[in-house]
Amino acid sequence: MNFNRNDLCWCGSGIKYKKCHIEFDEKLKRLEAQGFQVPPRSIIKTKEQIEGIKNSAKINNAVLDLVAQNIKEGMSTEEIDKLVHDYTIAQGAIPATLGFEGYPKSVCTSINDEVCHGIPSEHIILKSGDILNVDVSTIFNGYYSDASRMFMIGEVSQEARKLVEVSKECLDKGIAAVKPWGFLDDIGAAIQEHAKKHGYSVVRDFGGHGIGLEFHEEPFVAHYGKKGQGMILVPGMVFTIEPMINEGSYEIVIDADDDWTVFTEDGSLSSQWEHTILVTENGIEIISK
Ligand code: MF3
Ligand code: CO
Repeated sequence: MNFNRNDLCWCGSGIKYKKCHIEFDEKLKRLEAQGFQVPPRSIIKTKEQIEGIKNSAKINNAVLDLVAQNIKEGMSTEEIDKLVHDYTIAQGAIPATLGFEGYPKSVCTSINDEVCHGIPSEHIILKSGDILNVDVSTIFNGYYSDASRMFMIGEVSQEARKLVEVSKECLDKGIAAVKPWGFLDDIGAAIQEHAKKHGYSVVRDFGGHGIGLEFHEEPFVAHYGKKGQGMILVPGMVFTIEPMINEGSYEIVIDADDDWTVFTEDGSLSSQWEHTILVTENGIEIISK
């Protein structure tokens, strides 16, 4: 869509287009003409949308804090699901996974060799030595947010602890690689380099994603790759970074019975942390964590 210079800007600032996003749009057009991959307007968030996503993220962060306060040895992952579900509903929000493409629960709980999308169950009881990822996503007022954290139960082995720590460092390095007008694949390159340094591998079949108006939007955020490639990142983009780091190979298998749970193929441990970030004029803001 083209805007007249004297129209109000598409971003909802209330300012004339010529004083607002015209330079931004022209810069994108120039980059595109030079052969760079640029984001479509539809995934560049307006101020109002960013507020909406932040309000959703506030609830999402609070849910994860609640899980952190309550998670303990002897508890079932079903109990985590109930905690997440009831708190989210009490805030007037909706757990984004519930019913999403048939997913049956309000949270993903992925334990030990589970990579992601583990389904809470009364039969899965947390025991000392377990590591697990709790992945929470929320819809509030139509806006989506998404984050996940690792938890270590009781006495955890040196090896498991190291994997959990290094996977968090991978996330932090991925986030540090985000620069306004930089390249998307710089994120994956930074993550892959750090994982490799520690002898770990990076899952390829799943990645981060744009988020906000829908659960999964463009772009797909690969957690491996080469610097200087992929979509140009611009202010107003909101996406998750959520590297899944395996102790062994990056190959995965999906459970044939539930069709959801993703395991490492070799049975090695896997660890994941996820934040949602906003690209700003000068850098980034972490929206959910
Ligand atoms: N939070 C997960 C993600 O990052 C949710 C996957 S969809 C589900 O995309 F249905 F598996 F939960
Ligand atoms: Co996600």
